[in-house]
Amino acid sequence: MKKVEIHPEAVERVKKFTINDTVLGFGKYMSPIMIQGLYDNGEWQQFDLLPYGPISLDPCTKVLHYGQEIFEGMKAFRHPDEKVYMFRPEQNARRFNHSARRMAMPEIPEEQFLQCCDIITAYSHHLVPKRLGESLYLRPFMIATEVGLGIKPAKQFLFMIVASPSGAYFSGDSVKVYVEKKDIRAADGGTGAAKTGGNYAASLQSYKKTLEAGCDQTLWLDAIEHKYIEEMSGMNFFAIINGVLHTPSLTDTILNGITRHSIIEIMGLDKRQVVEKRMDINELLKHVEDGSCTEAFVCGTASVVAPISQFQLADGSIYHLKEPMGPQAMKIRERLIGIQAGRDEAPAGWLRPTPNLEF
Ligand code: COI
Repeated sequence: MKKVEIHPEAVERVKKFTINDTVLGFGKYMSPIMIQGLYDNGEWQQFDLLPYGPISLDPCTKVLHYGQEIFEGMKAFRHPDEKVYMFRPEQNARRFNHSARRMAMPEIPEEQFLQCCDIITAYSHHLVPKRLGESLYLRPFMIATEVGLGIKPAKQFLFMIVASPSGAYFSGDSVKVYVEKKDIRAADGGTGAAKTGGNYAASLQSYKKTLEAGCDQTLWLDAIEHKYIEEMSGMNFFAIINGVLHTPSLTDTILNGITRHSIIEIMGLDKRQVVEKRMDINELLKHVEDGSCTEAFVCGTASVVAPISQFQLADGSIYHLKEPMGPQAMKIRERLIGIQAGRDEAPAGWLRPTPNLEF
């Protein structure tokens, strides 16, 4: 593993930096430092902690043309004892490498990934917000930096982590869902299970439709029959049917959400059943109509858990959930936030303490 070189200018910048705003928003403020790692000649060459700033790229850099890019989203929380903990970062490290393999990019040793997360979090310690539900949102990413217009896997890459002291991603209002029955997000054998920018870019045309329909989020269906529920563009999906939690089983067209997985594990600890299977949207809408599906919700790192109030189709028909404020979803949200923020006991290995630095 390479040692991360700490640049004194970065330390000076972050030491002096404060945020004088009580409304943090999501990704609005950035810690003034960043991690940078360079890959060349078949190996990771060096890692640096630098002042946050623009990066300069040749106009023919491959990522700009062919989208060879991956990213992660993860969070660090300030606990009541003032210590800062990352939530399950090992899972992000593993998923980052899964995405890297799919996108023909180099893997980064898990320990190296974690060390870089530790360092940016530790140096941003005073910027990790205090209030329940707030966090330091970490955004690790990697881009192909080789220059040239030939379409082939690059040999040079840039890994970075930036960090944003953030509030809640959702305002607290329930989510209105637009059911996308025409466009698709991912197909079998494609990149749906990789966290790569192209998946998000491909979702934006439908997102425009979603907003025009007065909704907040797009619900994606499978590519073949256009009826099996997959995920929202940046979140996984759950529904409560006859009192039991249901979520689509994972395929290689669905992102393996760490929040999704954590909810299933928490439910397991509480001896509550979670059904993971293919979910037909038409059946689900019938359950919404006859009242057997009382709640549905989205979940993800940024959003945590947010209840769904309604499903809307392209023809304008709307299916209202019996419990639009999602009382059970909100309980799950509170449970998860309680664990993340050190208010409730965390399952073993879920929280990684960040080193305490004197600087
Ligand atoms: C996250 O929840 O961290 C995501 O990556 C989703 C989104 C903000 C793109």
